[in-house]
Amino acid sequence: MDRAIEINHLSVVFHTESGQVHAVKDVSLTLKHGVITGLIGETGSGKSVMASAILRMLPFYAEVSGSIRYQGMEILEADHRTVRDLRRNHIGLIPQNPSESLNPARRILPQTAECFEGSRRERRNITYHNMEKMGLNNPEDTGRKYPFQLSGGMKQRAVSLFGMREQLDWMIADEPTKGLDMVVYQQVFESLQTLSRHGNRGMLVITHDLTLAVKLCDELAVLYEGEIVESGKAKEVLGYPQHPYTRGLLASLPQNGMHAMVAKPLEEVHGGCRFRPRCPLAGEKCTGCHPDLEETTLGRKVRCLRHD
Ligand SMILES: Nc1ncnc2c1ncn2[C@@H]1O[C@H](COP(=O)(O)OP(=O)(O)OP(=O)(O)O)[C@@H](O)[C@H]1O
Ligand SMILES: [Mg+2]
Repeated sequence: MDRAIEINHLSVVFHTESGQVHAVKDVSLTLKHGVITGLIGETGSGKSVMASAILRMLPFYAEVSGSIRYQGMEILEADHRTVRDLRRNHIGLIPQNPSESLNPARRILPQTAECFEGSRRERRNITYHNMEKMGLNNPEDTGRKYPFQLSGGMKQRAVSLFGMREQLDWMIADEPTKGLDMVVYQQVFESLQTLSRHGNRGMLVITHDLTLAVKLCDELAVLYEGEIVESGKAKEVLGYPQHPYTRGLLASLPQNGMHAMVAKPLEEVHGGCRFRPRCPLAGEKCTGCHPDLEETTLGRKVRCLRHD
């Protein structure tokens, strides 16, 4: 059976006391099994909310519409048991906030070992083995510690184990390299690559790090305010960006001169293109009509009226 995750017209609105937040807007994206898909975009663009929607982890006040299909099943309509099975046996998550995902009152070994199968000893050994793969080079020592005794980067790697269960078919890694120094970064990078290429694992990688995205990912989707504004092959999207927002993200990198983009306006932009207040190409027609995500060259899609 096809193991792709097919997202169609996904929208997420949070109904909060201070109003509505439209975090994901009509996103359609197929995550193919066997390629690494990257999701990039600045803070608050809806990346983690998309991951939570796939795993049905959104709070009750989130209104979710559209469709997320996986192995013939509609995830958004699955019952509790199916959702539990989905999280335990099919789609793993390396969460963005390791502190929130670890129990502060338990040592690291017992809470990470319970992800794995087998006898107590087997689970312990596989946990140590995976800790080493993720650059925790003294696993016995790490396993004995409580979360508060680990650095941020160590906690990040400890929660990575949640996504490494053998039986998983998919892994969603939300900022897997945040807060890591270059040596450990390289180790984590190689583990993710091995897991995907040889572990037969579908992978969605959410990251701020464009260098990671271009090195690790095969395909890429760029989110802006909950909307995909550009997607395609990672090397092409970042090599020849067509949307002004993707260009802006690249220009802001140190190696490209750190050219800052125009800041995001405080009020929400209504009508027309949402990026226009920050866009160097914006013209009159960008006010009048909201651009569709259109195919420009083979496999590349761009949401911009003026990209060429
Ligand atoms: N539980 C929630 N309740 C209300 N609003 C939320 C909730 N979770 C996220 N949001 C809002 O949804 C939007 C998208 O948030 P999200 O966490 O997906 O951003 P992100 O792209 O992952 O950002 P970052 O790169 O900082 O992790 C933001 O405006 C955020 O404030
Ligand atoms: Mg996030």
